[in-house]
Order: sequence, then structure tokens, then C-alpha cells
Amino acid sequence: MIRARITGVGGYLPRRVVTNDELSRSLDTSDEWIAARTGIRQRHIADKDETAAFMGTRAAAAALAQAGVAAAGVDAIILATATPDDAFPATAVRVQAALGLATGFAFDVSAACSGFVYGLAMADAFLRTGMIRTALVIGSEVYSRILDWTDRGTCVLFGDGAGAVLLQAGDGDAGAPGILSTHLHANGAHAGLLYVDGAVGQPERPGHLVMKGSEVFRHAVTKLAGTVDEALAANGLSHADVDWLVPHQANRRIIDSMGKKLGLPAERVVVTVDRHANTSAASIPLALAEAVGDGRIQAGHLVLMEALGGGLTWGSALVRF
Ligand code: COA
Repeated sequence: MIRARITGVGGYLPRRVVTNDELSRSLDTSDEWIAARTGIRQRHIADKDETAAFMGTRAAAAALAQAGVAAAGVDAIILATATPDDAFPATAVRVQAALGLATGFAFDVSAACSGFVYGLAMADAFLRTGMIRTALVIGSEVYSRILDWTDRGTCVLFGDGAGAVLLQAGDGDAGAPGILSTHLHANGAHAGLLYVDGAVGQPERPGHLVMKGSEVFRHAVTKLAGTVDEALAANGLSHADVDWLVPHQANRRIIDSMGKKLGLPAERVVVTVDRHANTSAASIPLALAEAVGDGRIQAGHLVLMEALGGGLTWGSALVRF
């Protein structure tokens, strides 16, 4: 059986760090309010040169280096972003060119904060059919460019960054390393809860993120719990089998409620939201890069990922490292 194995992970965070205190100098907010409601203490904010393609390329290069694979060996680049460099071409092809590649295929995925899980599911499907052998899945986001910096209800929540994984086809049974399963969902009836008001050719609309935070919160807690359960059930596994929860990093309270639901001690839940804030499609691969890089996630560990975002879209992935 073909299995899609994660053989490298990498991340990139913009040089500039902005603390809650710094935001509170120009906005009616405070470190106390932001930290208590979200767990966020700071975020990285991109400079002009730190575009989605620039950051995605850095993260991809780090993932390739960790795997010891040359860029020339990559068959597909799938890049999840809501903040592409241009409406087209896809940011993925800019990454492809920056990596010095002129072979294979490359495209972007639009699923907001669920984008990385969506991208992982697509790459897994391509690998399992034998269509490709190696894929980069990247999440790269510059939300600082789509935030209304006068809206304290949203602008304090997000940050910029990129993360990437390298997937390689390997053989093995259900116990072997690789993606066990992925589970994707969408319900456009909730599109009005979280969206960016604007599009190419609509200059009258500002292109800013709009969110009904408390309603998104409610959906997140129930829908994420459901997709975590379906991932475990699909593989005949239980909460006790999970070594690490690597959740989308939107809000510490949502993360804690998922950890609690799984009965996982806090030290088995990877948390970056305090330092990165919500980096949307980049948050899971950034968290993976951190926890693989510092040796917490090791070969043989079972890792559960979950995310929910604008759409609404949501989903999960269960991966044996
Ligand atoms: N600083 C200080 N006060 C703030 C504030 C800020 N940054 N943002 C909002 N407030 C105020 C509001 O104006 C409101 O004041 P009022 O009662 O006088 O009107 C009060 O705080 C409560 O606002 P509310 O939006 O009800 O707070 P909340 O408890 O729902 O927390 C979120 C807001 C955004 C932190 C929370 O809803 C949340 O995390 N939602 C999920 C968002 C999410 O994860 N989205 C991404 C999914 S991918």
C-alpha cells in the first residue's frame, strides 16, 4: 500500500515582532484583554519583501533541507493561502520558480484557515494513486495586509508566517509512517461568519477581514470535536492512541477545549498561538516545524491535526511520523 510520509517540515516567521503592548498604543485594547480571551501575547508582521511566495519558499526550502531532498525531486507544490502575491498566477508557481524548479505542477488552495489540511488531503490523494511520488504542501499567509487595523475585534488575532511539509511516497501497512486519513468538510451557509470583503475588480470594497467571533467560536468547538472523532473512528483508534494534538492556532481556549476532549495532558498539545497568533493556513505546519525541530514529535508518534476557517471549512488529518 502506498503511504504519504512526512519526511521534512520547515517554517518561516517574519523578522518583525509586534507585542500586544505595542498594539495597545494605537488601539483601544490591552495585553490583559487579548491574552485572557485568546492566549496571544505577540505576532510576527511581514515587511514589504516578506510576501506569501517569499515566506513559502523559505519554509519549503527548510522542509527540503530537513528531508535531505533536492528541489528537483519535487513533483507537485500545493500552497494554501488567502493572501496570495497576485490573483494569478498561483503563489505556488512563484515558489516553484524560486526553488529553481521547472517540472511538475503547482497550484494554490483557497480554504482559509483549513487550507493546510485541505492541501495535505489533496497531496495524500495524488500520492496514493501513484500519480506523483513527492509533494510540498505549504501554508503561507500575510493577513496583516487584509486586516482592518482600526477593528480591535479582529486585528489583534492574526499574524503572518509560513510553514511547509515534504511528503514522499513510501510502502507500508496501517502501522507504517504516513498519513492514515484526512477528513474535509465545508458549509457555505456560514460564509457570512468569516470572510474578506473584497475581490479583484471591486475597488469599492476594502478587502478587509470581517468576523463574527463568538459565532465562529461556537462552530469551532463542536465541528472540530466532530472531525477529531471521525478521524479516530475511521482508523479504529481511540483518544488514548494520540501522542500529539497539533491544532490550528486560532485561540487558546479552543485549543484547550480540544485537548481536554481528547483527554490529552497540556504538554501533549502543541501551542504556538501565544507567539504566532493566528497565521491561518500556516499555523499547523509552523507548529509541526517547531515540535519536530525541538524533538517533541518523534518517529512512530501519532499526530492529530484539526482546523476550522472561513467558509466555513473544517477538517482533520491523522498522521504517523
Ligand atoms: N480589546 C479590548 N476589548 C475588545 C477587543 C480588544 N481587542 N475586541 C473586542 N473587545 C470588546 C468588544 O467590543 C466587546 O465589548 P462590549 O461588550 O462593550 O461590546 C467585548 O470585548 C466582548 O466582545 P466579544 O466579541 O463578545 O468577545 P468574545 O468573548 O467573543 O471574544 C474573540 C472575542 C474574537 C476573542 C472570540 O470570539 C474568539 O476567539 N472567536 C473565535 C475567533 C476565531 O478563532 N476565528 C478564527 C477561526 S479560523
